[in-house]
Parts: sequence; C-alpha cells; structure tokens
Amino acid sequence: MIRKLLKWTGIVILSLVLLIAIVVASRQNLKFEAPYPDIKSTADSAIVAHGKEIAYGPAHCADCHYAGNADSVFKLGQEPALNGGRIFETPVGNFYVRNITSDPVTGIGRYTDGEIARVLRYGVRPNGTAVIDFMPFHNMSDEDLTAVISFLRSTKPVRNQVPDHSVTMMGRIVKAFMLKPVGPSEQVPKTIHRDSTAVYGRYLANSVANCVGCHTNRDMMTGAFIGEPFAGGLKFEEPGIPTLVSPNINPNTPGRIYGWSQIDFINRFRMGKLIPYSHMPWNSFKRMSDGDLKAIFNYLKSLPGSTAKAGTK
Ligand code: HEC
Ligand code: HEC
Repeated sequence: MIRKLLKWTGIVILSLVLLIAIVVASRQNLKFEAPYPDIKSTADSAIVAHGKEIAYGPAHCADCHYAGNADSVFKLGQEPALNGGRIFETPVGNFYVRNITSDPVTGIGRYTDGEIARVLRYGVRPNGTAVIDFMPFHNMSDEDLTAVISFLRSTKPVRNQVPDHSVTMMGRIVKAFMLKPVGPSEQVPKTIHRDSTAVYGRYLANSVANCVGCHTNRDMMTGAFIGEPFAGGLKFEEPGIPTLVSPNINPNTPGRIYGWSQIDFINRFRMGKLIPYSHMPWNSFKRMSDGDLKAIFNYLKSLPGSTAKAGTK
C-alpha cells in the first residue's frame, strides 16, 4: 500500500516538474505590446550636442555601454565609444550591455527611431521581448529622447558583436513568470525647461541620472523600492571588492550631506571619484553643468525631512 502510494507520488512529482519545465521553456520569448513613441532623430548639430551632453553626463550611458574604464577615457579629455560594455553578473544570469554605436549590423543602426525610443521608454526590445530594468529613462522627455537618439545616430559605427545574455535556471523561471517590461510612471513631458529649479532637479535625479535608483534601499530579487527615497541603505556586493552601502543623500536629515551648502555639493561633484571601486558614475556626473547640479541640490533640499536610519553615516 505504502509502496504504491510512494510510486504514485513519485509519478505525480515527476510529471509536475516536467510540466513546469515545458511551461518555462515555452515562455522564454514572451512578446509584449507597447507603443512606438513618436520620436524622429535629426542631424541638427545643436540637438546632437544636447544629446551628447545628456548621454555622457547625467544619463551616464558610458558607464554601462563601454567595456573599459570610462573614467580614464574622460580624464584624457576623450569620449568612450558606446560599443558594448559591462557584464552584469546576477543570480538570474549574466547580462551583456549592448553595442549602441550607429553600426548597422551590431549596433543601433539596424533599428528605427521608434524601436530605440520604445526600448528606452517602455522596456520592450525591437523583437518584442522585455528588457530587464537596468535603465531608468522611462519618463525622459520627448525632446531629450530625440536628442539622445540623434546623438547615437551621429556616433562612429563600431562593429562589435556582443554575446547574448546567458540566463540561469532561476533566471528562466523569473523570465517565464515574473519579467514584465517597465514603462513610464507618470505622464511623460514633451519638453522640460532646463534650469536650476527643484522641478528640473527632480527630473534629473529620478528620470535621467538615477540618483533615486542607487540611493534608495531595494529588494535585490525584484528591484522593488523598500526604503525611503534618497535615504540610502542599498548594498553593493560584488566579489573581490569591499561592500559599499549607498549613503543617505537627503540633506534635511542627519545623513551624508546634512549641512552641505550648494557650493559644497557642486565641489564634491567636481572632485569625481574618490573611492576607486565606487559604483557611482562620478566621472560622468562630474561633466554635469553647475546649473544641473544646482537643480539636483535644490530638489534634494525640497524633500521632506525623514527619520530613516538606513545608510545614515
Ligand atoms: C546601468 C547601466 C546602463 C546605463 C546607464 C545605460 N544602459 Fe542601455 N542597456 C543596459 C543593459 C543591461 C542593456 C541590455 C538590456 C537587455 O537586453 O535586457 C541595455 C540596452 C540598451 C539598448 C537596447 C539595445 C539592443 O540592441 O537591444 C539601448 C538602445 C540602450 N541600452 C541605450 C542606452 C542609452 C542611450 C543610455 C544613456 C542615455 C543607456 N543605454 C544607459 C544598461 C545600461
Ligand atoms: C550606480 C549607483 C549610484 C548612482 C546612480 C548614484 N550614486 Fe551616489 N553613491 C553611490 C555609492 C555606492 C556611494 C558611496 C561611495 C562613494 O562615495 O563613491 C555614493 C555616494 C554619494 C555621495 C557621497 C559622497 C561623499 O564623498 O561623501 C553623494 C553626495 C551622492 N552619492 C550623490 C548622488 C547623486 C546626487 C546622484 C545622482 C546625480 C547619485 N549619487 C547617483 C551610488 C550611486
């Protein structure tokens, strides 16, 4: 009797495992619907220059899309090619950052403006599958998105075939059941006035420079925010280097920049990277204008005071 029961339990479990494996396999290339934003790139030199300023400054594309040390290239007064770069090693797999030079075979030259705009705004690749949400540009204005794509089109084509992502078994399960494209969290502005106000600072800190993404505690499995915005506490654990914890950057609470003046804040950014293994893209941010940095500071100043302890040091 017991033996029979065991046999049947075994068969049931085996069939279940098989069934799950089949479902997981069949859901690896799920396609998602998202609109193509109405964005048209241009060769207008002022717009291309604006796009370049965003890309190599607050949006720090080079920190991920360049494989070498972007900092050292910037230090030489040059601009790194965005020909594919870092490998993000995560428990769900290794992700290879793509080649986004204008190359028509291995870069963005093979995509339409709408396809590039859609992956940045809605997280849906040209082939309809979802990207993992590494990039924070969902709410970037139409005007800035146009400028960034115009800049990408203007780049020298570099042929570099980036390997496909390699996803672990756990990653395949996450991909099958949990991965959904992330889109805008609010009405995307057509254009946003570039000045030093908190309104513009809010835009930079949340939708372009991703200060919020690193300076807010998150659940490492899902990426969901679990801490108070800008109160820090996110752990950066990487084999081979000491663990860093992002500090609290709300200036109204006793965190890292409590008591800093606007000048202190700008001066700190002008120094660039001081901790060599820091994850913060200091050398891209160092290129931001005084106006942009003032805007971010004014925005941080406008945050409510908090009692959050995380990252307070
Ligand atoms: C934090 C790292 C990071 C930053 C910063 C970043 N990217 Fe990416 N980008 C990625 C990763 C990772 C992928 C691959 C995503 C995937 O395929 O799931 C990617 C993919 C892309 C793609 C899709 C390319 C393709 O062939 O599928 C485009 C276009 C792109 N990035 C443009 C940009 C631009 C423009 C910027 C700056 C404005 C930027 N990225 C900044 C990490 C980053
Ligand atoms: C990729 C993650 C990441 C991003 C994006 C990021 N930071 Fe950081 N930040 C860190 C880490 C990690 C540290 C601690 C190590 C260090 O000081 O470099 C840090 C430190 C800081 C410090 C303290 C510096 C000091 O010397 O005490 C300030 C101020 C700061 N960040 C502000 C910002 C602002 C403003 C933005 C957006 C413009 C931003 N960070 C974006 C990860 C990030």
